Amino acid sequence: APFPLTDRFGRVARDLRVSLTDRCNLRCTYCMPAEGLDWLPDDRVLTDDEVVRLVSIGVRLLGVDDVRFTGGEPLVRRGFVDIVRRCAELEPRPQLSVTTNALGLKRQAVALRDAGLDRVNVSLDTVRAETFKQMTLRDRFDDVVAGLAAAQAAGLSPVKVNAVLMRGVNDDQAPELLRWCLERGYELRFIEQMPLDAQHGWRRDDMVTADEIFASLEQHFVLEPAEEPRGTAPAELFRVDGGPGHVGVIASVTRPFCGDCDRVRLTADGQVRNCLFAREESDLRAALRGGASDEEIARRWQQAMATKLPGHGIDDPTFLQPARPMSAIGG
Ligand code: GTP
Ligand code: 5AD
Ligand code: SF4
Repeated sequence: APFPLTDRFGRVARDLRVSLTDRCNLRCTYCMPAEGLDWLPDDRVLTDDEVVRLVSIGVRLLGVDDVRFTGGEPLVRRGFVDIVRRCAELEPRPQLSVTTNALGLKRQAVALRDAGLDRVNVSLDTVRAETFKQMTLRDRFDDVVAGLAAAQAAGLSPVKVNAVLMRGVNDDQAPELLRWCLERGYELRFIEQMPLDAQHGWRRDDMVTADEIFASLEQHFVLEPAEEPRGTAPAELFRVDGGPGHVGVIASVTRPFCGDCDRVRLTADGQVRNCLFAREESDLRAALRGGASDEEIARRWQQAMATKLPGHGIDDPTFLQPARPMSAIGG
């Protein structure tokens, strides 16, 4: 690529995570308050054309080969199917995936597949309707189940499920969640909670750790490290009961994987973030709207990688949570 996204530590970003909106139709308590947040005003959010132009610069000039759409909740963005279609027409064609809560996926799965979407990751923290309502403040468990089934039926596979465990809420449900996913052929990954909640309520001691998740799963299943090398993926994979099913753990906090990071992020308002925990952003929206050329934008984007830190530093005494919450970064 003419402008590879290399940082000071030699890591090269090829995986672009694009947040399409900071809005969401659930209210996961570990993410945002019941009343929602001060959403980005419309005029600051990139238009469909602007999103596609930046993705196009990414694949043609920066060496991006993997594009994941996130939110907030990306399916609430009007024009999402169209954005996917236009990104699938780019040369070289990137891999296209989405991370979603699956509300509305039942209705959109086939159109998304036809537009060129390759895969979906669905956030689901429990398979009890009661707990779902308690954790998301919305009574929509059945819609998520239907969305997952529709994605799988449409061939958006492998379908992955992301689960966050909260102490005293669903931390006793890991085995049943895994059994449920194994029965349906979904690849479940447990995620350690990170200090990115809008309420700034994260406490290290409240976080359910990877070790605790293993201890809980190993009461019911035999786990062995998966054969395939992990590469740059956040998830460590384990074969369950001899296979073919697997379970993953994304232990961002207790087993950080920053040394192999290949990700760069674009927020819905057009800011490049070189890390989830970056303290500064680079304003590509201003460049776009100021009439910059593709090469100028590419150079600016490349320069944004220079300040990428070696790691997230969550355990440093000086750690400060970024101002932007998870829902406005896209995870
Ligand atoms: P796959 O390509 O399907 O493996 O996607 P993924 O697991 O990278 O993406 P997904 O959006 O499903 O994210 C799952 C969890 O991993 C979320 O909690 C993300 O915030 C977290 N995650 C993804 N990338 C990073 C990263 O670069 N750093 C950290 N710390 N967490 C990440
Ligand atoms: N830490 C870790 N994961 C989180 N998610 C949301 N907030 C956090 C957090 N603070 C998860 C969502 C979704 C994925 C994108 O990130 O549940 O599955
Ligand atoms: Fe990459 Fe930052 Fe995530 Fe570490 S925390 S893996 S550096 S994005």
